[in-house]
Amino acid sequence: MTTLPKPRQPELKTALPGPKTAAIMERDARHLSTSYMRPYPFVPDHGEGVWLTDVDGNTMLDFFAGIAVSTTGHAHPHVVKAVQEQITRFTHVCLTDYPQEITTSLAERMVRHIEKPGEKWRVFFGNSGAEAVEAAVKLARNHTRRSHIISTIGSFHGRTYGAITLTGSKTKYKRGFGPLLPNVSHVPYPNPFRPPLGATADTCAQAVIDHIEGLFQTVLPADEVAAIIVEPMQGEGGYIVPPADFLPKLRALCDAHGILLIFDEVQAGMGRTGKMYSFQHFNVQPDIVTVAKGIASGMPISAMLAKESVMTWPVGSHGSTYGGNPVAAAAAHATLDLLEGVVKHPGCGASLMANARDVGAYILSELRTMQTEFPCLGDVRGEGLFIGLEFVTPDGRPDGKLRDEASLAMFERGLLNLDCGEAVIRISPPLILTREDAATGLEIMRETLRALR
Ligand SMILES: Cc1ncc(COP(=O)(O)O)c(C=O)c1O
Repeated sequence: MTTLPKPRQPELKTALPGPKTAAIMERDARHLSTSYMRPYPFVPDHGEGVWLTDVDGNTMLDFFAGIAVSTTGHAHPHVVKAVQEQITRFTHVCLTDYPQEITTSLAERMVRHIEKPGEKWRVFFGNSGAEAVEAAVKLARNHTRRSHIISTIGSFHGRTYGAITLTGSKTKYKRGFGPLLPNVSHVPYPNPFRPPLGATADTCAQAVIDHIEGLFQTVLPADEVAAIIVEPMQGEGGYIVPPADFLPKLRALCDAHGILLIFDEVQAGMGRTGKMYSFQHFNVQPDIVTVAKGIASGMPISAMLAKESVMTWPVGSHGSTYGGNPVAAAAAHATLDLLEGVVKHPGCGASLMANARDVGAYILSELRTMQTEFPCLGDVRGEGLFIGLEFVTPDGRPDGKLRDEASLAMFERGLLNLDCGEAVIRISPPLILTREDAATGLEIMRETLRALR
């Protein structure tokens, strides 16, 4: 009889934090920016696949992938090789001034996932999500010669001045930083679990559209609005999937008023939801798309993609010294190889996108079963490996305190996780997560919730 190998488990060799971790945490607290958050004491030393080992030799299962970034896991050999090869050729010349084949082919490859018949798209490369968002807003204003931007409550678009103005998730990002960008309004996001505007899960999409139309009649002339920016699935706001009719209705509203539609795919994009872009679950086409995080397995690069008919800003009007860095572009190519299935990852089926669908569906169904045992799990939602777990009080209010306790207790059992929204734990692991490793993480969650009861 053959016995199957036992799935790998976290290995905790010291009490947490271990001595080296504690020492670095202390130096970190003394010398680094006071703005950095430290949800629990973890200092990475090295990683392999979905496993990260801290400086004390404790190995943990990664269920958050550096905030939905490490798409191919840690130190994926295909990505490492691509980076090594490029770095020995050249690391920088400056894409703003000279073309480089590696970014030309990356742009060609990225637009192939977006272009519909008869459409042409172009790409601007930056270094971070916020930069892609800034570029999107600048382009929208420049193209339409209108100034107003509409964003959503609960959204996160980054921390530079334009992006932070658009962000609508937490006031701490804005307090004391004003004045922010003028001419930005926020409207509710249709969260089916907590519908805004007195609506229900079924009616909240239309309620938000009516609300915007109401603004156009009273306080905000529609012909002064350049763009509406929205996360097709909201990330930092709580891993929220909107009702199926929301984005098509928003598209129709934009078309009726000559407004551009920007989809911020920085967190949900690049295969995480099981499709290349999360908006592709909704049969709707935007005018501008921003991507970053998952694009290059942790190498810093972002992109703002726009229809050719919209990307009309003149030569020299926008650029970036490092944007589209060739080493990061090589990592993006390697990441796309694995996402598309041009290169297969062992145990992950046809492609990492297919794996995200398969393992994501498995995790969602297991979590829904867990909900019956643990009523504190008020909502389980998501698509692919973009999954949110909302903690609630017995009377259904968001329970941020319990969420924080659960997050820490999971970490102490060797499961790296991260909060978002008011009371949500996000599950955003590398897309190479297997069902076996997912089961290990789910068992840790179960044990944690039993212990907290
Ligand atoms: C949807 C979205 N947009 C933009 C950003 C900003 O990205 P960055 O931190 O790389 O600037 C984030 C970061 O979390 C995000 O989730």
